[in-house]
Amino acid sequence: MVITGKERVSIPYLFRVKEQGEKITVLTAYDFPTARILDDCGIDIILVGDSVGMAVLGYETTLPVTMEVMIHHTQAVVRARRRALVVGDMPFLSFHLSLADSIFNAGRFIKEAGADAVKLEGASPRRLELVEALVEAEIPVMGHVGLTPQSIRKMGGFKVQGTEGEKAEEIYRGALALEKAGAFAVVLESVPEELAAEITKSLKIPTIGIGAGPYCDGQVLVVNDMLGYSTGYMPKFVKKYADLVEIISKAVNDYITDVRQGRFPDDEHSYHLKKEIAGYWIEKLKEKLSRTDDQSQ
Ligand code: KIV
Repeated sequence: MVITGKERVSIPYLFRVKEQGEKITVLTAYDFPTARILDDCGIDIILVGDSVGMAVLGYETTLPVTMEVMIHHTQAVVRARRRALVVGDMPFLSFHLSLADSIFNAGRFIKEAGADAVKLEGASPRRLELVEALVEAEIPVMGHVGLTPQSIRKMGGFKVQGTEGEKAEEIYRGALALEKAGAFAVVLESVPEELAAEITKSLKIPTIGIGAGPYCDGQVLVVNDMLGYSTGYMPKFVKKYADLVEIISKAVNDYITDVRQGRFPDDEHSYHLKKEIAGYWIEKLKEKLSRTDDQSQ
């Protein structure tokens, strides 16, 4: 058992977990309290995903998410983290322009936000060149292939990828190339489990699956989805471990009813003047006010 629950998670630690055939646990988080809960529970990696755009900010895709938003949320997560590895997700257009620009943006996650690593989508030749350059600049990179939500316009929707030979081979080759370029792990999103199993066997670095079946070295989910704190469409691969929408709705409805019916705040949730001065002080105050009224007439 390599998982002590105490050792700070590092990249060598993740390699050991894979070597020993254990599983790496990953969830997204975007704020301090959620990150603190995940960390206290012993999650290995907290991914500050650009899914913040959809899960928290109400966008329909991840495309509008900016560097400023990502830095802001990553800082909150880093403040909460004690043990987990924190990975910041590079948003759309933050790593698509010049190499220098992309390295600068990735560096902001490390320098300004305190993240341990960055994640970026895709495995095109230019992406691979960037991964090499980031690793050279001491910035650890997590790759991401299969369904890459920033390519939503090209893919025509959030669809399973690699169900056919040619596309499956492209994903397989992409994962291998990311390892060669120096990535320390690769996310496999929405791909058939057979393909994910093959990639996982072929790679020395860990694979982290989301909608990629049980054979990956680790699993990731969007925390709001698995907690049932999302409204709208939910992909088949999401398992709901709680129903926070129901829990929160009940609490809010109870609050509304209590306030309307005068049951809240009750004595337990109210402050009082000290008993010995209460009557005296109120009398004095009334006197004072009536004197002020007289003078103003
Ligand atoms: O943005 C995100 O949360 C992700 C995960 C779903 C892998 O990229």
